[in-house]
Amino acid sequence: MRTVAVIGGGVSGLISTKCCLDGDLLPTCYEMTKDIGGLWNYDENAVDGKASVMKSTEVNTSKEFMAFSDFPPPADYPNYMHNSKLLSYFRMYASKFDLLKYFRFRRRVTRIEPTDDYEQTGCWLIYSVDVNETDEEKIRGKLHSWQYKTPHGFEDKTVLIVGIGSSAGDMAVELGRAAKQVYLSTRRGTWVYNRVGPNGWPTDMYRTNLMLATIQKYFPWLMNRLIERELSKKFNHELYSLKPDHLPLQQHPFINDDLPNRILCGSVIIKPNIKEFSSDGHSVLFEDSTKVDHVDCVLMATGFNIAFPYLNESILSVKDNKIQLYKFVWPSHLAHPTLAVMGLIQPWGAINPMTELQARWAVRAFKRELKLPSRLKMDEDIHQRFEKMSKRYVSSPRHTIQVDYIEYCNELANEVGCLPNILSYLLNDFSLGWLLLCGPCTPYRYRLEGPNKWKDARHAILTQDKRVECPLRDGKRQNQSMKYPINPTFVLSFIFLVVVSLSIFIFFWK
Ligand SMILES: Cc1cc2nc3c(=O)[nH]c(=O)nc-3n(C[C@H](O)[C@H](O)[C@H](O)COP(=O)(O)OP(=O)(O)OC[C@H]3O[C@@H](n4cnc5c(N)ncnc54)[C@H](O)[C@@H]3O)c2cc1C
Ligand SMILES: NC(=O)c1ccc[n+]([C@@H]2O[C@H](COP(=O)([O-])OP(=O)(O)OC[C@H]3O[C@@H](n4cnc5c(N)ncnc54)[C@H](OP(=O)(O)O)[C@@H]3O)[C@@H](O)[C@H]2O)c1
Repeated sequence: MRTVAVIGGGVSGLISTKCCLDGDLLPTCYEMTKDIGGLWNYDENAVDGKASVMKSTEVNTSKEFMAFSDFPPPADYPNYMHNSKLLSYFRMYASKFDLLKYFRFRRRVTRIEPTDDYEQTGCWLIYSVDVNETDEEKIRGKLHSWQYKTPHGFEDKTVLIVGIGSSAGDMAVELGRAAKQVYLSTRRGTWVYNRVGPNGWPTDMYRTNLMLATIQKYFPWLMNRLIERELSKKFNHELYSLKPDHLPLQQHPFINDDLPNRILCGSVIIKPNIKEFSSDGHSVLFEDSTKVDHVDCVLMATGFNIAFPYLNESILSVKDNKIQLYKFVWPSHLAHPTLAVMGLIQPWGAINPMTELQARWAVRAFKRELKLPSRLKMDEDIHQRFEKMSKRYVSSPRHTIQVDYIEYCNELANEVGCLPNILSYLLNDFSLGWLLLCGPCTPYRYRLEGPNKWKDARHAILTQDKRVECPLRDGKRQNQSMKYPINPTFVLSFIFLVVVSLSIFIFFWK
């Protein structure tokens, strides 16, 4: 049996361990902390090298999209889980597939090197050290969002938050209720999305379907207009000093249900980019020449850097937060497909289903069941992806690993050999085919066929709406069924697609 080292026991590590076992490979997962869950395992102390959530963080992607494709979350779990619930779901997964026995906790990987016979074998040497509790660097009082845990200590303080990604949004709404005053500085504004979609349905369950993805791919201007109209109905972004110059699809989505409320109540005040700090650091001058005196604390919510401290630059190099990986998984220059990167993507949607498909693909390539393209082809693809990203997104170090959920999942599923043939389902199993075509693109569809298919995948798809409803209804009304909300954008897109298809058909028929 061939062995695989999995570095990191966050959700990507859990998924990779499980996929190795599914592919009859023997994994060992090295995790430097004492537990699974990675950033979702809340730690009141910031641990160097490990991302972490705030105590109050709730996911911004709903549970049917955070699901493992062969293990749906419990029906009664809330749609947008608190980090502790998500961790408990990860624990259930680890226990169901008996994954923990493959984990080595408190083991930090320090170096990975090719073996002497790498050219022939493709094997790697893994160096790791024990991590004692006292070795963990505990850092207090520093000011990056990653180190912010609770509003405790910020009461009655004047706080300035820099940046307007989800971290900034979460801190601003929490501190808006505790601090004396919160200022949120942004250099370009943002479009604000909500977790709660039309009719109370989770936004991604309503928005992430094939029809809308097709419109978005071929008619992005139309989708931009539709989204802008929908988001502007909630509040006037210009009036709230948030309206950016770019269109909604040109930024990584900012999801926050409470920020407009905090702004309206005055506890959060939006400011433009910072021009300078006074020499004592307590006064801040902004680019519009306004000034705030007596700032007690500055929180930098300016995002994360990509880094692989245990890998030599000749194996993986990162420049300006850009990394050269074929489909965000494979370094193209290596002689063997034996080193793969998991979960290094920033999607419009949930990461877990994509990481799972990446891991399934990696396992097939490790086993030489499929071949990667030539280095030239991979480099071409990498180049095109960067070109596409730079055309679509505003230029920023946060926009270097962007992917669209459905497009990327389908691309990977095609590699794995598990992309469902929707036409065939429409002809042979209409209710399932219809959901595959028009319903939310949840991960179970990638277990209907292909390697490691799951016999209950069909059932999981047909019952996903029940799992959405379950935590919302009281016991008595559990049996009533709720219909998918009619989505005006969806209906419009559907009509548009039919008209376009008919026009193309008539054109060629003539
Ligand atoms: C604050 C925040 C909120 C997010 N919210 C969402 C969301 O709502 N939905 C979504 O889909 N995505 C979200 N994401 C994206 C997130 O990256 C993924 O959800 C996912 O948790 C990443 O898992 P991971 O295992 O790749 O990384 P991590 O969870 O960061 O785990 C990495 C693990 O590797 C270990 N490790 C690191 N270096 C070493 C080493 N040298 N040796 C041994 N072990 C090591 C760490 O201790 C850690 O346990 C969020 C990201 C952040 C930062
Ligand atoms: N609740 C949740 O689920 C949750 C919570 C937190 C984070 N997340 C996820 O975690 C990931 C990271 O989020 P994040 O918010 O930490 O980082 P991020 O999305 O990368 O956002 C960073 C922000 O900081 C700004 N910025 C960066 N450098 C700056 C500078 N020098 N001066 C001024 N502004 C600067 C960026 O502005 P520009 O756009 O101008 O560069 C951007 O607004 C994202 O995928 C996010 O969705 C999720």
